[in-house]
Amino acid sequence: MIGLDGVAMIAFRNVSKRYAHGARAAVDGVSFDVRAGSLCMIVGTSGSGKTTLLRIVNRLIEPTGGELLINGRNVLREDPIALRRRIGYVIQQVGLFPHMTVAENVRVTAEIAGWTRRRLEGRADELLTLVGLAPAEYRHRYPRQLSGGEQQRVGIARALAADPEILLMDEPFGALDAITRDRMQQELLRIQRSLRKTILFVTHDVEEALRLGDQIVVLSGGRLVQTGSPVELLAHPADDFVRQLVGADSAVRQLEHLPVSAALDPHVTWAAAPGDGLRVLPDSTLLDAMLRLLDTGARALAVQPPASSAPVGYVTPASIIRLIAPGRGGPAARAGHR
Ligand SMILES: Nc1ncnc2c1ncn2[C@@H]1O[C@H](COP(=O)(O)OP(=O)(O)O)[C@@H](O)[C@H]1O
Ligand SMILES: [Mg+2]
Repeated sequence: MIGLDGVAMIAFRNVSKRYAHGARAAVDGVSFDVRAGSLCMIVGTSGSGKTTLLRIVNRLIEPTGGELLINGRNVLREDPIALRRRIGYVIQQVGLFPHMTVAENVRVTAEIAGWTRRRLEGRADELLTLVGLAPAEYRHRYPRQLSGGEQQRVGIARALAADPEILLMDEPFGALDAITRDRMQQELLRIQRSLRKTILFVTHDVEEALRLGDQIVVLSGGRLVQTGSPVELLAHPADDFVRQLVGADSAVRQLEHLPVSAALDPHVTWAAAPGDGLRVLPDSTLLDAMLRLLDTGARALAVQPPASSAPVGYVTPASIIRLIAPGRGGPAARAGHR
């Protein structure tokens, strides 16, 4: 998958890792590209090689085969210390230094990267604000005086302090309660909208992957099974494993995650459109559209991009049901499943 600008920011080329006494490779001939500025979710069951693959990127683990290109250069031939300065790393166990204040914890990566005093000044406050912690309230606290969610915010601030090009996140929200995790996911999306880092995010939680990712990589037994957008995986799972993993047969999943643009009704054109005049944005979910149809009693909604004067098409209750209901002409039925 190459971006519009043609630049693949991170490229895995047949990357493998076999541990010393491993019966089989933990990562087995994995190849995929990650566009600059995308949030790429690496998903798979426990032991599928997610952490190994992630740690190959900052060379905490040396691969036993393949190439890793960042902006076209094979970083396996570069100095690992210099490489790590360009890459932020966030893990579940946060790992803040207990004897250092929040501000000191945040600044430490920029200090290690050799930032000057002048540049460092204000850096901690700037990042605390970015991750939603009021600097005046938090900068002098110690890690033990923070909740789990606050610690994870500081961990993200620290990973971003030296302004890395790439952010690696290994199940960062895995230890948080459901409500805090939800909030942190929203915060990450907000931060990503303003910073546009290239993020590799490991999770075993498919819901998290579908919610956050613009690209998803599915690993199983160290191999890449499929990569694509959440919509591509839901609408065209490569095999039964992916189909089950993403819940492609679940109507609820599809309603929640598929955009209305995937369910345009071929029978309704501008000439034949019912005159209700209701519009939705192309990236609204099918669930939004369905609720809107139910609320208003409209027979169709015009799917229209924000700056455009004409709809790209229409969705109707029938076109939504055709897409999501297996056995009634939905994707699963078309693939011959069931
Ligand atoms: N240091 C190690 N030495 C030997 N085997 C390892 C080591 N780390 C991980 N493994 C094995 O490699 C496989 C992938 O592990 P890991 O990358 O941690 O998976 P995940 O993060 O998806 O749970 C597992 O079978 C695991 O037991
Ligand atoms: Mg892991």
